[in-house]
Amino acid sequence: MTTPVLAIEHLHVELPVRAEMRTVLHDVSLTIGPSEALGLVGESGSGKSMTARSIMRLLSPGASTTGTILFEGVDVLTMHHDALLAFRRKGVAMIYQDPRAHINPVRTIGDFLTEGILLDGSVSTAEAQAKVISLLDEVGIPDAKRRLRQYPHQLSGGLLQRVMIAAALSEEPRLLLADEPTTALDVTTQEEVMAILDQLRVERSLAMLFITHDLDLAAAVSDRVAAMYAGVIIEVGDAASLHTDSLHPYTVGLLDSRPEFGARVRARPIPGRPILASEAPPGCVFAERCPYVTERCRSERPILREVDGRLVACHRAEELRGTISFAGAQEPR
Ligand SMILES: Nc1ncnc2c1ncn2[C@@H]1O[C@H](COP(=O)(O)OP(=O)(O)OP(=O)(O)O)[C@@H](O)[C@H]1O
Ligand SMILES: [Mg+2]
Repeated sequence: MTTPVLAIEHLHVELPVRAEMRTVLHDVSLTIGPSEALGLVGESGSGKSMTARSIMRLLSPGASTTGTILFEGVDVLTMHHDALLAFRRKGVAMIYQDPRAHINPVRTIGDFLTEGILLDGSVSTAEAQAKVISLLDEVGIPDAKRRLRQYPHQLSGGLLQRVMIAAALSEEPRLLLADEPTTALDVTTQEEVMAILDQLRVERSLAMLFITHDLDLAAAVSDRVAAMYAGVIIEVGDAASLHTDSLHPYTVGLLDSRPEFGARVRARPIPGRPILASEAPPGCVFAERCPYVTERCRSERPILREVDGRLVACHRAEELRGTISFAGAQEPR
């Protein structure tokens, strides 16, 4: 078997909040194979960004982490300084929801893009410029020479996100972490940026973790999709079947809560409030909001287990399959 690009095993993360440690991720296991795209979906606060930050080892000081995060077989969590720097520079790249928060506003686009390439010391300024111009061309930015002299505020959100994609690809990483890369853009721009990201990823055989709260989008651009709730992975499967035949009530709820363009039926958010990982009850994390909850669900945490080639953490997966609906579900009292 080929080594996965990324293998997260039993990752548990706690962060200090005031005087106590709070769980944000619990027993997370995920793998991404070479050139595979894994979608990670879930409501706000479910732990998607924390998963990405854990992979980069960019958690706040005082964080406590157990489990392993293997990048090409080497544990990121125990890497020493030089190996960690090399991993962050060459192994992995990250694209964020808000590009403006991740670019220095007083430096030109050209300086920003050439900086990483020049760090090596083996490339001349002219060569770095030429590489950057061809990258900008690849991400669909015309007139690249002029753009290099501009500052971030002179570019629209869509153009700036393309610049970020160019920067992410400039070091030829093997793994791309994309955290809601199109959420902040308008709909047309979203589609354009997503198409470019998808095309470049496939052309370069990059592995990708694609984070979004939109299950439709995740299914469209990923090979497999994992659904997360309250810091726990509750279902993982190939994109098509997770989309059409979800096994976990939460995944069905995520699908129902997606507004459909032109649809007459209004999108229905999952009743109840999402809980945080630190508030998780001893049983199923979704128990409070699940229309199918039983006593067993409240007392015994379902583990992620295989059902028909997929992984699901629900005691009633087989029994409920194909029948799950939130239509008659009430807001819990
Ligand atoms: N610095 C921090 N210290 C303590 N807890 C934090 C910190 N940052 C985030 N959290 C908590 O970690 C949990 C997971 O947050 P995370 O940002 O991963 O959610 P998310 O799934 O990315 O949500 P969104 O869709 O809103 O981006 C949340 O409960 C959040 O309150
Ligand atoms: Mg997030």
